[in-house]
Amino acid sequence: MKGIILAGGTGTRLTPFTRILNKHLLPVGPYPMIYWPIFKLRDSGIKEILIVTNQKDLTFFKEILGKGEELKVKLYFKTQKTEGGGIADALLSARDFINNDKFTVLLGDNLFDDSLIPYIKGFEMQKSGARVLLKEVSNPSRYGVPLLDTEGKKILSIHEKPNQPPSSYCVTGIYMYDKNVFQMIKSIKPSYRNELEITDVNNLYIKQNLLEYEVLKGWWIDAGTHQSLFMAQKHVYEYFLKEGKND
Ligand code: DAU
Repeated sequence: MKGIILAGGTGTRLTPFTRILNKHLLPVGPYPMIYWPIFKLRDSGIKEILIVTNQKDLTFFKEILGKGEELKVKLYFKTQKTEGGGIADALLSARDFINNDKFTVLLGDNLFDDSLIPYIKGFEMQKSGARVLLKEVSNPSRYGVPLLDTEGKKILSIHEKPNQPPSSYCVTGIYMYDKNVFQMIKSIKPSYRNELEITDVNNLYIKQNLLEYEVLKGWWIDAGTHQSLFMAQKHVYEYFLKEGKND
């Protein structure tokens, strides 16, 4: 299976740093943020990884990461045509990289503890469709929020940044898709914030009864704000302390 990391966007919630630097190159512990999703894919056995970012940031990514030799992965790069055009728009840039296989997508600002191995295994056993990972959060309105059926077996719909969240879960930026995702993206329209929303794509999978989900067990952080970036630092340093690497 191949992996994709989306690392474009505008990073407005992390200004002033993001006026000059792509959010995914900001430090989290001893590494730039982008290293963490690379580690997670690599440790789950995914070694071929495409990074999608903005044209203006591409040289920085290439300079820091090279072709991935140091991290023991094979890295490829693509740029998103419309900067800030939305997560689904960024994913469109991965079309040629994917061919017909199923794949895993990580949002580059999502940091988490769980190993991806069991979730990827689950998706490999799934005949077709897509799979998302949820996490219970205290502030669901900031995210895509699922409405679950009464038995908690199915997601009935997903609501992007709802004022009145239908559950206390958020849809994390860990997605698994089959190749049909590209057709689905082609069929959606930009949202009120002028973005092609991944939530609209996931809702199309729900309509076809093809969206499965699981819930993350460990910590999960969307490091897109100053406060959550601070929390990400804290978790990563705690992880290093536990591992005995505390310098
Ligand atoms: O973190 C999980 C949440 O991520 C989900 O619950 C939401 O459903 C999903 O829409 C997204 O919400 P955010 O508001 O946090 O998305 P943000 O604009 O911060 O972008 C998340 C990542 O996607 C970020 O690492 C950069 C990448 N991205 C984003 C946009 C808008 C791109 O590569 N290109 C883009 O155009």
